[in-house]
Amino acid sequence: MSFDEYLNLNLPRVESFHPHFNDALTWVLKAGGKHFRAKLLLGVVEAIKPDMLQNAYPVALGVELFHTYSLVHDDLPAMDNAPLRRGVETLHVKYDEVTAILVGDALNTHAFYVISNADLAPEIIVKCTQILSKNGGIYGMAIGQACDCFFERKRLALDELKFLHIHKTGALIAASMQIGAVIAGLDKLKCDEIYKIGIKLGLAFQIHDDIIDATSKQADAGKPTSNDVFKNSFTNLLGISQAKKQRDELEEQILDELKDSPIKNLVTNLINKYLKG
Ligand code: IPE
Ligand code: IPE
Ligand code: MG
Ligand code: MG
Ligand code: MG
Repeated sequence: MSFDEYLNLNLPRVESFHPHFNDALTWVLKAGGKHFRAKLLLGVVEAIKPDMLQNAYPVALGVELFHTYSLVHDDLPAMDNAPLRRGVETLHVKYDEVTAILVGDALNTHAFYVISNADLAPEIIVKCTQILSKNGGIYGMAIGQACDCFFERKRLALDELKFLHIHKTGALIAASMQIGAVIAGLDKLKCDEIYKIGIKLGLAFQIHDDIIDATSKQADAGKPTSNDVFKNSFTNLLGISQAKKQRDELEEQILDELKDSPIKNLVTNLINKYLKG
């Protein structure tokens, strides 16, 4: 089964008398997205221990729910104030801010509920939970987003910008790969190596996202573009061609480091599909 099918069969849902909470809860999930993090996680498991692939689906779902929460909050008026996401209206536009905040909160916590119920050994579930909460929380996405928002209209140095990108985006992408490696049963050293590759891939991913903001049309991106004018983005600090160069160099480095790795094909295919142009 594709991840897309699995997601649509396992959308979160709650019985209540609320008129539209379930619709709001699933609105951004049903809108699609690349499922880059889920594909990475499942791809790592499939490349190393295909027998575990089915058991990994709920964890990939948890990661996608968590990522979607980060987008719902990222789009709020207090943050990026974006009216469009994945080609559809954002929740605060379609409903209201209260709904968007609570759907974000619900997706965040539901991610861990889903992971905790996966058919995996308890110690693996604990590790997955540790990795996601570490990289999605204060040591990862949350501090990255806090820096992103606090330093709007204040210029950062390049190493500070890298810190910001690595935390807001790199950490969750690296976590997805590391979780895949943990489910596949790799030892700590190998899991840590995969995590380090994931940080580089995540940095390249966010540089590419900044390039999309600077060069694409809203209709193609499915979200507002030219929205980063006051942000510390790679394109604002370095210009578009230098940003592309940095992204391409990172991608080369990643594939070099993966030369004899069973996940090289996976990473090559995802880079070619989503991180070019
Ligand atoms: C957007 O993530 C936010 C960033 C971290 C750049 P994606 O580009 O993965 O968004 P979807 O999930 O495909 O919509
Ligand atoms: C958001 O970065 C990263 C998150 C942690 C959600 P952006 O603000 O650049 O993401 P987009 O461009 O809105 O998708
Ligand atoms: Mg943002
Ligand atoms: Mg944004
Ligand atoms: Mg962006």
